[in-house]
Amino acid sequence: MRILVKNGTIATESEVFQGDILIENEKIKEIGVNLSSEDAKIIDAFGQYVLPGAVDVHTHMDLQAGKYRAVDDFYDGTVAAACGGTTTIVDHMAFGPKGCSLWHQVEEYHRLADGKAVIDYGFHGVIQHVNDSILREMKEIADKDGITSFKIYMTYDFMLKDDEIYRVLKQAKEDGIVIAVHCENDGVINYLRNEYRENGCTEVKYHPLSRPARCEAEAVNRMLHIAAMAGDAPLYIVHLSSKEGLMEIMRAKAEHQKNFAVETCTQYLTLTDEVYEDIREGLKATMSPPLRKKEDNDALWQALHDDVIDTVATDHCPFNFGKEKQAGAKDFTCCPNGAPGVEERVCVMFSEGVEKGRITLTQMVKYLCTNPSRMYGLYPQKGTLLPGSDADIVLLDPKKEWVLTHADMHSAVDYTCYEGMPVKGRITLVMQRGKVIVKDNKFLGAKGDGKYLKRNRSVLAK
Ligand code: URP
Ligand code: ZN
Repeated sequence: MRILVKNGTIATESEVFQGDILIENEKIKEIGVNLSSEDAKIIDAFGQYVLPGAVDVHTHMDLQAGKYRAVDDFYDGTVAAACGGTTTIVDHMAFGPKGCSLWHQVEEYHRLADGKAVIDYGFHGVIQHVNDSILREMKEIADKDGITSFKIYMTYDFMLKDDEIYRVLKQAKEDGIVIAVHCENDGVINYLRNEYRENGCTEVKYHPLSRPARCEAEAVNRMLHIAAMAGDAPLYIVHLSSKEGLMEIMRAKAEHQKNFAVETCTQYLTLTDEVYEDIREGLKATMSPPLRKKEDNDALWQALHDDVIDTVATDHCPFNFGKEKQAGAKDFTCCPNGAPGVEERVCVMFSEGVEKGRITLTQMVKYLCTNPSRMYGLYPQKGTLLPGSDADIVLLDPKKEWVLTHADMHSAVDYTCYEGMPVKGRITLVMQRGKVIVKDNKFLGAKGDGKYLKRNRSVLAK
């Protein structure tokens, strides 16, 4: 069946124009003005923005984190994503058992997502120790299963040491693989966490103090230097949260380091560490890195405005406030880290970013749709509106004003970090490969309709 989306205001990463989109066999067939097709079903998009389905390249569905499990599995989490205008995710895997092969978690994640996801999905692999066979497996998995990016951590139990990071990056450069990195200085964080605990400073307000911005900046700096020593290896820095970290990025850019990209997340642009002053509510925002200050928000917005940051993701990793998060009620170090956000991203970024004049609509499309797709080998299938691309399309009514509240959300989690935020602009319809899967905040898709995406090599690796 053909579908014709008519009279909308189409936005891509480079232009905004009035037009129509003709869809046939799950793909965009034609984009133009005054298109007609006798047998097509018409969707009237007058007065609405027509955007590419958004791509969130940093989620943690069904994540096992120590003794806690994120409460969104691949069904609930992708329903939430879809309702928020995200039609593709690339999910970060949990660590597997100590010493496991890279295939272990790849197979586990196919089991978790297959038959459940309602939108198209891919995975990033995870490297939790390094030896010759792990280094060999990276290319094997990229070639066989289209997992062309792997994450490493500079903190947590399965962090890699600098020599291991160097080895991984050298191999990644050779094999055309992107290494995504969680940058925080593990030594200082662990020292501070222990010190606070020993001194009885266990309220949630000590969470951000135990992970200062300079811990991020030092790790970002170290990582960039190691990547440069590995021949400008393909590198993607996840969830940049601070002005200090940003300064290290700007230094590397000024020195013309190549093949690296930077992600921030909605929460680091719009929320601040003041939430931790509330001994109860603060638990909702325990995450790593922690929320920072207004001046960090401002610096990150400026970096988006200036095209210094490449993508905005969510790090969606929800635990219930009424349950798992309460483990931190007496001691923040016991609280599972992570927060929901996959459903809120597009609307919050439109309202706080585009409507408030901090970024343009084309920039929003670039950071939420096109660049994430490009960085992770999905372009031009995903994240753009071009003939031949998948017909993943979002209609957003820029005039609708509403207040963000948990009652309107679809995740299995019991709160949103954005409760009560006034929002301008609301998603009215979401299409995945030409099928309407959300209309007026109602999910109409089907469990298991999401397809696994074997990804190509990233632009960072070419
Ligand atoms: O606090 C966070 N971000 N939890 C998810 C796991 C990670 O560190 O990315
Ligand atoms: Zn994460």
